[in-house]
Amino acid sequence: MRKRIFAVALVLILGMFCMSCGTKAPQRNTGKIKIGVTIYDQYDTFLTQLMECFVKEVGTEAELVVFNASQSQQTQNSQVKKMIEDGCDVICVNLVDRTDPTTVIDAAKKADVPIIFFNRELVEGDIGRWNRLFYVGADAAQSGTMEGELAADLCCRDTGVDKNGDGKIQYVVLEGEAGHQDAIVRCEYSVDALVRAGVEVDRLGSAIANWNRAQAQTKTTQFIESNNGIELVMSNNDDMALGAIDAYEASGIDRDNWPVFFGIDGTDVGLAAVRDGLLSGTVYNDKEGQAGAMSRLALTLARGGSIEDIADEYDVTEGKYIRLPYAKVTLENVEEYLGR
Ligand code: GAL
Ligand code: CA
Repeated sequence: MRKRIFAVALVLILGMFCMSCGTKAPQRNTGKIKIGVTIYDQYDTFLTQLMECFVKEVGTEAELVVFNASQSQQTQNSQVKKMIEDGCDVICVNLVDRTDPTTVIDAAKKADVPIIFFNRELVEGDIGRWNRLFYVGADAAQSGTMEGELAADLCCRDTGVDKNGDGKIQYVVLEGEAGHQDAIVRCEYSVDALVRAGVEVDRLGSAIANWNRAQAQTKTTQFIESNNGIELVMSNNDDMALGAIDAYEASGIDRDNWPVFFGIDGTDVGLAAVRDGLLSGTVYNDKEGQAGAMSRLALTLARGGSIEDIADEYDVTEGKYIRLPYAKVTLENVEEYLGR
């Protein structure tokens, strides 16, 4: 229900912006700054919340046009071309296919409009193709490591996690999207951190659920049907962890026999689940920080400045990247994050 409200809210925001931009003649660098944004899928919970922060950050400093690419790179390519034609001074791109930014880059370069890619990281070779291409995001490895450490802490502290008492933790992994940098890296680093902390593990399986709660519920139901000895669910994001919890809720299995669940993002629903003791921990994906960096960089570039102008506020690497740090969230500190 809540998810639907976010989606509806974003659709409304998108509608408002599209209406406001449709009535103005294309113009560049004259009058108000114009920022274009395209996101890969407006139904993604984390991105919806990141965009809410971005809208707030930009405030009245610029005119915003926000498009939903609906998971189609072709649609996104056309949106970028349209934003360039409409006189956007800078464009923020949440790539649908992170391996296929060529059309976007070529169009931007030709029109000399800088691009800030965000959240879905393009490969190094591509970002190096022009000096006005940037990336704002976070360090995927850090999120995976933190998630693994949170799980390890609990396993070491609470012997009850090892339900069958065999000295090993039977676990499954819920993976985000195939080929997404965060999914690939989080899967690897979370389990590595768990093992490094001395926890003996026994992998029962893994499944791709595309960051999606409903898909994760389906995949977890299949896990439960084929093997109900799962003690830990390690999920690449909160929505999928919540989908796994939905599956246990629907299964009728007594709560005492549920595994423990870990996620990443600290979305509103994720934090609420930590507060309610359903999710044992999450890793905060700093949407406020990322939205702030995108907004600062976009406005700076639009005013003719460079990324170096904000290097005292943000950690800028290779003159192109700004990565905001993640943070661990458990019942002990969840209140701090709920209030953001
Ligand atoms: C990740 C986030 C996921 C999903 C994905 C989309 O950083 O943890 O929940 O939003 O980005 O690219
Ligand atoms: Ca066990």
